Amino acid sequence: MTSLPIAFIGGGNMASALIGGLLNSGRPPRSLLVVEPSEVQRDKLAQAFGVAAVPVATAALSQAGTVIWAVKPQSFDEAATACGSWLAGALQLSVMAGIRSDAIARASGSPQVVRAMPNTPALIGRGIAGLYARPEVDAAARAQVEQLFAPTGESLWVEYEDQLDAVTAISGSGPAYVFYFLEAMMQAATELGLSAEQGRRLAQGTFAGAAALAQASPLQPAELRAQVTSKGGTTHAAITSLDDSGVKAAVVRAVHAAHTRAQELGRGR
Ligand SMILES: NC(=O)c1ccc[n+]([C@@H]2O[C@H](COP(=O)([O-])OP(=O)(O)OC[C@H]3O[C@@H](n4cnc5c(N)ncnc54)[C@H](OP(=O)(O)O)[C@@H]3O)[C@@H](O)[C@H]2O)c1
Repeated sequence: MTSLPIAFIGGGNMASALIGGLLNSGRPPRSLLVVEPSEVQRDKLAQAFGVAAVPVATAALSQAGTVIWAVKPQSFDEAATACGSWLAGALQLSVMAGIRSDAIARASGSPQVVRAMPNTPALIGRGIAGLYARPEVDAAARAQVEQLFAPTGESLWVEYEDQLDAVTAISGSGPAYVFYFLEAMMQAATELGLSAEQGRRLAQGTFAGAAALAQASPLQPAELRAQVTSKGGTTHAAITSLDDSGVKAAVVRAVHAAHTRAQELGRGR
């Protein structure tokens, strides 16, 4: 990876996940620059990583070979006004939801823009991120981005920027769908006489194990499901009830709703 400094605009959760990975892979803390207005957050970065963050943009940003945009989308305009004049020439990597690469190219003066849509398991190294690169981004820069995301989990490239809205709807918002299902299973567990703790362990363990099995197996999820669903058995009773309630169609509709919202949020940016 390039030895030029890496600058972070915003030093919150997602920036911290990436900073932790960079340091673990041997990068010295002094090669990272962080612009972070919150004093509390700056102290956290100093304590956790020994990384010095500054409250406002300075000319030191112009030394960076890579700039990582990690502010909330609503803070983008303000951050762009403060930092934009120092960023031309650097690779721009954004984890901001909904801010189009055109806007980042305009704000930074650099056409080399990669957008990433990570998800919260990145915070424990188990995320999956969708990546999109503008045509101006070369193979070396793409490889550098992959390397940057490796400590946060998996990543995959999409060909068209619009596909990041689909990534948002599937994996960006996806952890919440899983938590929703977990909540329902835990509620049922207590209704059936198990303690809340027992319900939580059983539901979480089932999700983790089933996800690992699906990943390890060459079979499709539908085939794995068929294997554990004997006619007239308990799983059959449950799946029949889910089908009668239209749960699969409801999940598909929910993902479409997230996709529509992602498109709305990105419009005009
Ligand atoms: N967390 C995730 O798993 C996840 C997943 C997918 C996408 N994302 C995207 O990643 C982006 C960052 O999310 P996050 O969870 O890391 O948010 P976060 O923890 O709120 O971090 C953003 C940080 O940027 C700082 N900031 C605000 N205005 C700034 C400015 N003008 N210049 C420099 N720094 C500024 C904020 O400081 P203040 O607190 O003082 O405002 C905050 O510490 C968002 O666009 C989000 O949609 C996050």
